[in-house]
Amino acid sequence: MDSFEINKIAGAVLFSGVCVIALNLTAGVIFSPDKPEQPGYAIAVAGAPDEPKAAAAPADQPITALLATASAERGQSAARKCEACHTLDKSGANKVGPNLWGVVGRTRASHAGFNYSAAMKAKGGSWTIDELNAFIQSPKADIPGTAMAFAGVPKASERADILVFLNRQSDNPQPLPTTTGAASAEPQPKQ
Ligand code: HEC
Repeated sequence: MDSFEINKIAGAVLFSGVCVIALNLTAGVIFSPDKPEQPGYAIAVAGAPDEPKAAAAPADQPITALLATASAERGQSAARKCEACHTLDKSGANKVGPNLWGVVGRTRASHAGFNYSAAMKAKGGSWTIDELNAFIQSPKADIPGTAMAFAGVPKASERADILVFLNRQSDNPQPLPTTTGAASAEPQPKQ
């Protein structure tokens, strides 16, 4: 096969490609399809089980009830994603984010040697369980301008696990908030 032959074949392939594209465009103009506003068909089924979505926790569900059934062990593995940027052990170094030992109850933006964002410094106050919950659900939504470039933990039960675990990473674990003042099911052993 000489190079002229190859050229002819390549030309033919190219030409048919162009034809297909041209045809497609013309067809699109002539038969522009009418897209329905709601794709698909609504099929009403009597007695269908509830949508699983309906059972999902609403965004602002209080974390308190979930803390009672949370597991520090599950929290420890879930917190691996935090460890990409944070150390969680006592006197661990600051990485991309500040060391989180004792962060539950700690004054916000107070860890020595870490250069916090202006947004974090301006917020003030200290980290309660509820505030940590809101922050790790969606850092940017909770504190716009935060330097914590992390999408967040959407699942409430996973956040509860992480928070129970984080609370143990402390010289002074905080009493976890409980519903109706009942004693927490989670024992709080010294680390
Ligand atoms: C991509 C890196 C990254 C990941 C992943 C990450 N963080 Fe952070 N985090 C940061 C940075 C950076 C800051 C400092 C934020 C600022 O100054 O605005 C921060 C700040 C914080 C603070 C405030 C600490 C203080 O001293 O005020 C908490 C609490 C926190 N992160 C918890 C978590 C938890 C819990 C996870 C895991 C669920 C997590 N972070 C995952 C980077 C990260």
